[in-house]
Amino acid sequence: MKRNIAPIARERVMREEDFIVSKTDTKGRITYANRIFMEFAGYAEDELLGVQHNIVRHPDMPRAVFEIMWQELSAGHEFFGYLKNLASDGSYYWTFAHVAPTHDSQGHTTGYYSVRRKPGSAGVALFAALYEKMLATEREAGPKDAIAASRPLFEDAYESRGTSYEEFVLAV
Ligand SMILES: Cc1cc2nc3c(=O)[nH]c(=O)nc-3n(C[C@H](O)[C@H](O)[C@H](O)COP(=O)(O)O)c2cc1C
Repeated sequence: MKRNIAPIARERVMREEDFIVSKTDTKGRITYANRIFMEFAGYAEDELLGVQHNIVRHPDMPRAVFEIMWQELSAGHEFFGYLKNLASDGSYYWTFAHVAPTHDSQGHTTGYYSVRRKPGSAGVALFAALYEKMLATEREAGPKDAIAASRPLFEDAYESRGTSYEEFVLAV
């Protein structure tokens, strides 16, 4: 399904008690969405089930972030990150997301799940500025070299502070 949503400068702000929950199959197609996800993304359940999770991808998000997310998930690791998401009406909502693989009793990956909560304002400010720089770098580099060009900016953000990404993203 191809969607063409024009982003608008209206923010939907998560409440302290909100959790946006979703699950996907191994290909990233949505298999579960909770009520808060439907509210923020602005879709009914039948518009989400079976659809790629990039339905909420915001064009302000650099591609390198998702490459890193999928690398971690493919390696069986969890991923934490600040994500700016796009709602069906073009508005945006910032989340602090935890994404992880799910396994069967044999240890095979059966899919992925994600829980997102209201992000801290310091984290949003920091990652919004970082993602803006990464996106500009990706545009300048062109599609083929985009990720290779912007990944060093991402890595430098925590390496320059002498921490791992996970320490950095959890502490900000
Ligand atoms: C469980 C799970 C949750 C995800 N949540 C989001 C999300 O909230 N926002 C988002 O843009 N991508 C999310 N993704 C990543 C998307 O599947 C996709 O990789 C990303 O939107 C980039 O899409 P693109 O490669 O088509 O540009 C999630 C993936 C999984 C497996």
